[in-house]
Amino acid sequence: MADSLEDSQIVRAVVERQLATAEEVRTAKEQQGRPIGGTGRRPIGEVLVDLGFLTRTQLLRVQGTSEDSGGRPAQQIPGYQLLNKCGAGAMAVVYRARQISLDRIVAIKVLPRRLSKNTEFVERFYREGRAAARLNHNNIVQAIDVGEANGFHFFVMEYVEGCTVYDELANSKVYSEAEALEIIRQIADALHHAHERGFIHRDVKPKNIMLTKERVAKLADMGLARETTDLGAAMAEAGRAYGTPYYISPEQIRGEVDIDLRADLYSLGGTFYHMVTGRVPFEGPTPSAVMHKHLKEPLTPPDHLNTNLSSGCGVMIEMLMAKDREERYPSARELLIDLDRLARHEPPLYAQSHVDEETLETLSTGQAIQAEPPSNDGRQRTGTPVNATGVSSTAAVILATAAGLSVVLNLILLILLATR
Ligand SMILES: Nc1ncnc2c1ncn2[C@@H]1O[C@H](COP(=O)(O)OP(=O)(O)OP(=O)(O)O)[C@@H](O)[C@H]1O
Ligand SMILES: [Mg+2]
Repeated sequence: MADSLEDSQIVRAVVERQLATAEEVRTAKEQQGRPIGGTGRRPIGEVLVDLGFLTRTQLLRVQGTSEDSGGRPAQQIPGYQLLNKCGAGAMAVVYRARQISLDRIVAIKVLPRRLSKNTEFVERFYREGRAAARLNHNNIVQAIDVGEANGFHFFVMEYVEGCTVYDELANSKVYSEAEALEIIRQIADALHHAHERGFIHRDVKPKNIMLTKERVAKLADMGLARETTDLGAAMAEAGRAYGTPYYISPEQIRGEVDIDLRADLYSLGGTFYHMVTGRVPFEGPTPSAVMHKHLKEPLTPPDHLNTNLSSGCGVMIEMLMAKDREERYPSARELLIDLDRLARHEPPLYAQSHVDEETLETLSTGQAIQAEPPSNDGRQRTGTPVNATGVSSTAAVILATAAGLSVVLNLILLILLATR
């Protein structure tokens, strides 16, 4: 359906003034095409406001009906002066703002109004936001406050001047092992701090890693309640999709309820993978195709894609991204030990021993399969394989060699006797 004259004027003004991105306008148009309960097609400005891409005051100003049609956005959140928009994601818009009481610059994430109707979400949002404000770590974007104004819930946090790892990846950057290690180590430290205090991030990804000019890495959105644990439902929701799930753990995809810190380690591994190879771990035409690969497809080893990577680094990333969380690092503490070893050009301790065990197990079970009767407990056995007669395979080899030698010696004796 063609845009009305008013709609196209609004869209042009909104995009020209950089109040919303072209992507946001497209999302709003998709929503507009789905009128609710026969109410007819809603004006695009209203849809943009409902989705949280535009504030009411911004819309009024664009329509030329606001008293404050000058340069800066009018006050929307008591106690804060909104200065400019500094980004937008699938769920929210982020503003740079001044916290008037302390006269400091902060970032405010404003959630779309539709989330206010979800009481379970709102409760979680306040509970987790307030708890996160008690965390304090140099590599975690400091959560400051949560609140509500004019029906919009907001999350106030430390303002980070800089860019995200995603921004650098989007500029086709491939990180050297050393440079990626610097960043991943800081985020592993942040996760260790949070995990020890009972927080699981659940959405570690390049977009949530901010970098200051001094290359201090800060994990964003810690303690920010996720919209839903049911990814399928979230993605099915018209016009509002989660980003493609490039870094999500298999257990989150399966919708398991007992998600633990190892989900964050998987996502950190996926981020590490992307940074050093320039490719996401699994690609696919749709989110469900990508998720299917997280569940089923073996990972292409990162050191096959970037041959400059040390094998230790490759093995560590593979361990972080093990599909079975039992095979991942048990916590960020062990990961930090391996990251430090790698930085000193020493082989990783945990990742290496994991592989050795695996190799040993594969070898021993491989040999055992030929001779060993099925075990009752279903567990793989290690150690010297034993065949059905109870003779170890090493002894069997010695016996076979001795028997072979005696046959040869007998033959030689026979030939000597025959030629006499
Ligand atoms: N504390 C902050 N300081 C400065 N800028 C920020 C801050 N937090 C977020 N931003 C900017 O706002 C953008 C949007 O953040 P938001 O968390 O809403 O979405 P996202 O993490 O980029 O993506 P998604 O919605 O897919 O998770 C970020 O990409 C970043 O550029
Ligand atoms: Mg974010």
